Amino acid sequence: MHYRCALITGATSGIGKAMAEAMPVETDLLLTGRDGERLAALADALATDGRRVEILVADLATAEGRAGVIARAEAMEIDFLINNAGLGRFGSVAETPLATELAMVAVNVTAPVELTRTLLPGMTTRARQSKSRAGIMIVSSVVAFQAVPYMTTYAASKVFDLFYAEGLAAELKGEPVDVLAVCPGGTRTEFFDRAAMPDRPVPYMLSAEAVARQALAAMGKRTVLVTDPIRKVTLVPGLIRRRILRSLVARVMRRLARGK
Ligand SMILES: NC(=O)c1ccc[n+]([C@@H]2O[C@H](COP(=O)([O-])OP(=O)(O)OC[C@H]3O[C@@H](n4cnc5c(N)ncnc54)[C@H](OP(=O)(O)O)[C@@H]3O)[C@@H](O)[C@H]2O)c1
Repeated sequence: MHYRCALITGATSGIGKAMAEAMPVETDLLLTGRDGERLAALADALATDGRRVEILVADLATAEGRAGVIARAEAMEIDFLINNAGLGRFGSVAETPLATELAMVAVNVTAPVELTRTLLPGMTTRARQSKSRAGIMIVSSVVAFQAVPYMTTYAASKVFDLFYAEGLAAELKGEPVDVLAVCPGGTRTEFFDRAAMPDRPVPYMLSAEAVARQALAAMGKRTVLVTDPIRKVTLVPGLIRRRILRSLVARVMRRLARGK
């Protein structure tokens, strides 16, 4: 891991907080979320001599929130973008308030697209100029591999995150930018309470720290990371097929793009 400055969205709790804590001290941090007190406490704990740790309170469900994060990230010239913030909601589509569905899409889908699209050109140019590498991580989920009734919109948003990261990784082949889709399985965070789930969906869960460690270690080494050890075994054939198809489709599409 040689990134100089990382933006972590959703750093107030769970996987995002664990990523901030696991980041090497040489990496400066921009931590965002809506809970300013938690962000300030984390920044206090992580700021060491000479390390720059900045926080920004921003609601990624709003255009202003996303614009604020982008402006600060550009000012800090980040070279590692971690699209981690996300939320789910337990319940049927018919009964979930539309505002909740739209907030989920805004945070889980719109924010990664807007942050990635806006920050990518600068990150790529700086990485080329300094002969270093930039990184983009998108936190998807194992729910991206099958529909999940009663978490329908959430699962669909995580399918988007996975496909977006895989397509982006193929487009950036040859560029100094690492792209990783992280697909955690059940992880012990505030996610399930916030999603109003009546109980945990799986009997075993990894810690947020274990997921964060695996995710950071996988940067630059692979395109898709499944952290859940049991799902990993069942998904391996599908992941291999997926990788082969992805590179075949990328070859065809790259030829079309070059002929433009
Ligand atoms: N836990 C799991 O089992 C699991 C499994 C697969 C994937 N994931 C994914 O992992 C990522 C992190 O989730 P987690 O498990 O660590 O849950 P978490 O503890 O609930 O953390 C979610 C983070 O997202 C932030 N966030 C939520 N809504 C936001 C908004 N409108 N604007 C800005 N930030 C917002 C929260 O910060 P504030 O509340 O301060 O805004 C918080 O820092 C999510 O993308 C989730 O889909 C989790």
